[in-house]
Amino acid sequence: MTDTYAVIGHPIEHSRSPDIHALFAAQTGQDMHYGRRSAPVDGFAASIQAFFAAGGAGLNVTLPFKQEAFERADTLSERAQRASAVNTLMARGDEIHGDNTDGAGLVADLVGRLGTDLAGARVLILGAGGAVRGVVPNLFAAGVARITIANRTRAKSQSVAESCLRMGSIAACGLDEAPFDADLVINAISAGLAGEMPALDDRVLTRARAVYDMIYADTATPFLRWARDRGVAGEDGFGMLVEQAAESFALWRGIRPDTRAVITALRGC
Ligand code: ATR
Repeated sequence: MTDTYAVIGHPIEHSRSPDIHALFAAQTGQDMHYGRRSAPVDGFAASIQAFFAAGGAGLNVTLPFKQEAFERADTLSERAQRASAVNTLMARGDEIHGDNTDGAGLVADLVGRLGTDLAGARVLILGAGGAVRGVVPNLFAAGVARITIANRTRAKSQSVAESCLRMGSIAACGLDEAPFDADLVINAISAGLAGEMPALDDRVLTRARAVYDMIYADTATPFLRWARDRGVAGEDGFGMLVEQAAESFALWRGIRPDTRAVITALRGC
């Protein structure tokens, strides 16, 4: 019987995950089907129960359900616990196991594909949502010296920083208080999805060697355009999307696909 997988979110129509997993499956010869599932904002738990009760093998979880997936999973990997967020669910007997592959995906793209030197780097992250919780542990594990989380709602950046204090040097501030000495600036503000970007002080780019936008789009995101206009190049989060998908695929199928080929096929670069 063909194993079934899906990405679940709200909205979900524009997700590229089914295309990515279809290419992974073809490349590795896996017999599986990967679709899209839209869950009502107040109906996530019922939706995942129904999926697994019908024999579903695994789910990727996207906006706005990553924190709820963390709460609903029966068992959690260590990295999901550290992140307090889950982007990958899988059936384990009668239980639903939760994991988080976002951080591994970001670091794989930054270091593996883009050749970013993270050792000793000062990193500024804009935004403090579920996606940020997922990536902080991996950035520290990759050797960054310091992370500052700048967010519109200061209390949220403080809460993320406090839960990561034991991992390394981490600070929190408001968006208008971001430091000017970061080597790498990462955007995780979801307004970019709607083609918008809050006003940022140009000086946050003073020492930046590169920027990275965890949001992705068919054309340059507002954050990447803003940085390019100020002379700093960057990449959007499509590579991270493919890398986190590969990590989920490896957890589910026990085989690791070639991400480069898939990024090239879907992006033409
Ligand atoms: P994700 O799981 O992708 O991180 P999220 O949890 O909804 O998504 O987080 C969205 C992030 O984008 C938050 O940091 C949010 O800031 P607040 O905590 O102040 O809400 C940020 N964000 C969204 N729209 C924004 C805007 N117009 N200006 C500034 N920040 C914005």
